[in-house]
Parts: sequence; structure tokens; C-alpha cells
Amino acid sequence: MSDSAHSAETLLSVEDLKVHFETDEGIVKAVDGVSFEVKRGEMLGIVGESGSGKSVANLTILGLTRASNATISGRIMFEGRDLTELGGEELQRIRGNEIAMIFQDPLSSLHPFFKVGDQLIEAIQVHRDVSKEEARKHATDLLGLVGIPDAKRRIGEYPHEFSGGMRQRVMIAMALANDPKLLIADEPTTALDVTTQAQILRLIERLREELGMAMIIVTHDLGVVAEVSDRVMVMYAGEAVESGTLDQIFYDPQHPYAWGLLGSLTRIDRPRTARLAQIAGQPPSLIRPPKGCHFRDRCPHAFEKCTEHPDLEARGGEAGHTDRCWIDPERKRELRVVSTGEIGLEAPEEVTS
Ligand SMILES: Nc1ncnc2c1ncn2[C@@H]1O[C@H](COP(=O)(O)OP(=O)(O)OP(=O)(O)O)[C@@H](O)[C@H]1O
Ligand SMILES: [Mg+2]
Repeated sequence: MSDSAHSAETLLSVEDLKVHFETDEGIVKAVDGVSFEVKRGEMLGIVGESGSGKSVANLTILGLTRASNATISGRIMFEGRDLTELGGEELQRIRGNEIAMIFQDPLSSLHPFFKVGDQLIEAIQVHRDVSKEEARKHATDLLGLVGIPDAKRRIGEYPHEFSGGMRQRVMIAMALANDPKLLIADEPTTALDVTTQAQILRLIERLREELGMAMIIVTHDLGVVAEVSDRVMVMYAGEAVESGTLDQIFYDPQHPYAWGLLGSLTRIDRPRTARLAQIAGQPPSLIRPPKGCHFRDRCPHAFEKCTEHPDLEARGGEAGHTDRCWIDPERKRELRVVSTGEIGLEAPEEVTS
């Protein structure tokens, strides 16, 4: 399926997406002018702190933020159609069929009263005209595909009979039921312990290779992004502040916020007790973000120019690498070593307790 002739083709193109929520306190600009692309078979990692707008952006792709208090603008082009213009029914056909989504908490997405197999069969039959027997066979195959042993028997069990990791595998099987072209995984491993997390990431990687689908993986953990992404978009306070290939973001990061994230990266070769570097301060209000660079209140390198709002554009990075920081690229190279110590690769202090 991973036809290399198709690999450079754009599957999804999000253009200047804005999602603003009207609340009693004011207008929450949860997503404020975000643009990105996902090519066929490509894995995009979207990373950023809690509240940066990652989930809202992705839920909006599937039309799941169309609440009465939301104002949505921009374009979401998927295979030639603008998803923001589709009606509920058309969107539902795309959802779970061409674009599937998995969430952080598999229990909240699986119905506790129905057998896992029946839920899978239903997911298959919603979009496909196949007999129950065919659907059951496909469901069993899917459970096998996601690494659930003894799938034939387990298909008759209830969600609570599965461990957290196994439930997340079931959710992935469910998402794959109709061969989606794009899979959006929102914090797919956050609720899992470290070992299970690693197993699920392996699985995601393997499935992507075998099935050749495109993926968006949303996470606040740059370590997760490092495992599986081709490209990375760093979000901060409703905006993308940096975007590039995995290597560009990891080895030539341009934005001080990305330096901060890299500095707080959990590393396998660090002692367990190591304290993670934290980015000082709190994310800004999305109702009244600071004028200019949204990160400037927390940025140790902010200067006068930062009261102007920087565009996301090529500044110091290679082609295809963009950022929203006014600091001179030459100066950035000096500063980021100080900020992150070899870009997040420094040995952290031990916690003495
Ligand atoms: N329906 C809504 N009405 C008002 N504000 C909302 C609504 N939905 C989301 N928000 C706000 O939008 C902002 C972005 O939320 P979002 O869930 O996208 O963050 P996130 O980056 O996914 O964070 P996390 O890492 O915690 O999942 C938050 O401040 C949230 O409170
Ligand atoms: Mg989220």
C-alpha cells in the first residue's frame, strides 16, 4: 500500500485554521491561525504543553468542535474537499472510514456493556456492506494485527477483561477497521505505563509501515514524537511556533520554546531519579495572550522586537523548516546551547532526597 509514487502527495492540508470559543470570560482563541500538511503515508507529530490547542485543532478536522459557542474559520482540505464545508452526514461518512481517531483513554471510547468483538463488528458494518460473518472474520484478523493473542476467544470478552494496553490495542484495531487513509492519535500512550507505552509505539510504527497510512500523533511528550514522526509541529498557545522534519526540530531547533521542550525530554539513558528541566512560568491566557510573541513572557531571551507578532516562516533553518522567533539565527545557535546544553542532551542534576 505504501506506494512511493503517492508518497509526496498531500493528503490533508489545514490552512489558517482558527477555532475560537465564546465563553463568559471572553473569546478563547484555542487555535489561532494554524496551517499544516500531511502527505500520504507521512507521520506528523504535534507537540506542545497542555492547553496549546492540539486536541481542538484535530477534533476540528473531524468536525467535533462544531458546538454552538465555536467559530471556525480557515480551510481543511482532505482529498480535494474542504471538510469545514461538509454537512454532518457527509462528515460522518469520512469519520471512522477515511479518517479515524484514537484517544488517550480507551475505556471512555469502548462501551463497557458490549463485547469487544461486537463493537468491532459494528464499527466495520457502519461503513461496509458485509455480512456479520465476514465482519467477524475481519474483526478477528484486526485483533491479530494489533497483537492481541488468542483473538478468536478474546473477541467474545468485555472491555474490562482487557488490560489498559490491550484496550488501547483494541481501539487501534477499531480505528483501522475501515482502512483509513489518515489516523489521528491524540495522546495514544499517555494513560499507559512506560513499558506498555513503548509497546504501543512499536505497534503504531509497525502498522504504519505495513499499512502505509498517514498519521497525526498528538502528544505533550517530545520523546514520543522522536520515536515515530517524520515531521513535527510545535504548538504554543494556539499557534504553531516551529515546524520541520524530525531531524530539524531535534538537531537544529529554532524556537526557545522548542529548546525548553527538548531540555525537558525524558531520556532513556538518564537515571530514573533525574529531575526534568521545566519551562518556567505558565502558558498565557488564550483570551488575552501577550501582544507580539505569545511566548515572550516566559522567554529568557525576549527583547524589544518580541512585542511584535512574528510570522511562522523560514528564518534560520533549512528549507521546509519554519519558526516564529525574532532572534537572529546566528545568535540562536549560541543561545540554545546555553539554554538546553547540547540541545537537551545534557545530564540533568540528580535529585537528592
Ligand atoms: N468548548 C470549549 N469552550 C471553551 N474553551 C474550550 C473548549 N474546548 C477547548 N477549550 C479550550 O481550548 C484550549 C485548548 O485546548 P486543547 O484541548 O486543544 O489543548 P491540548 O493542547 O489538547 O491540551 P492537552 O495536552 O491537555 O490535551 C484550552 O484552553 C481549553 O480550555
Ligand atoms: Mg489534548
